[in-house]
Amino acid sequence: MSKNIFLIGFMGAGKSTIARTLREEYGMRLIEMDEQIESQEGKTISQIFADNGEAYFRALETRLLECLEEEENTVVSCGGGVPMRRENVAAMRRSGTIVYLSAAPETIYERVKEFHTRPLLEGNMNVEYIKALMAQRLPKYLSAADVTIETDGKDAGTISSEILQSI
Ligand code: S3P
Repeated sequence: MSKNIFLIGFMGAGKSTIARTLREEYGMRLIEMDEQIESQEGKTISQIFADNGEAYFRALETRLLECLEEEENTVVSCGGGVPMRRENVAAMRRSGTIVYLSAAPETIYERVKEFHTRPLLEGNMNVEYIKALMAQRLPKYLSAADVTIETDGKDAGTISSEILQSI
């Protein structure tokens, strides 16, 4: 496979897990956007939000995506907010297929509730908040996506093979 795959979806939708499965089972190169930004800045995402603000972080995401246009055979695990910016969607379209991993708010909550690495969920760790933010973001996820994969109740191997079959 020479095309790139961009995995988009809400926090906790399983983007990182599926990206690792695609790397292990199909030999794709993996870029984890949050990790790359953290190592570039020498800070965690939470520290970047606290020290520099969300707008600064969003600009880093856009800059990183624009650098990925030379990539091939790469799966990119995107931060959950990436498709909110039109220029990010355009950059992803230019270099690959955009796959939206969907999951129910209850599933998301179960996956994220023990972690304190996501500034947007600090103080908002409940299903109602997740549901509301997801509803707000859903139109952008859906309009960005070339393909949507439902992930509830499926294992990583099943999801990865569904992705490869549908692109
Ligand atoms: C965010 C999602 C996070 C991270 C940051 C903001 C978002 O990534 O980029 O905390 O706006 O949805 P994950 O989707 O990998 O958790």
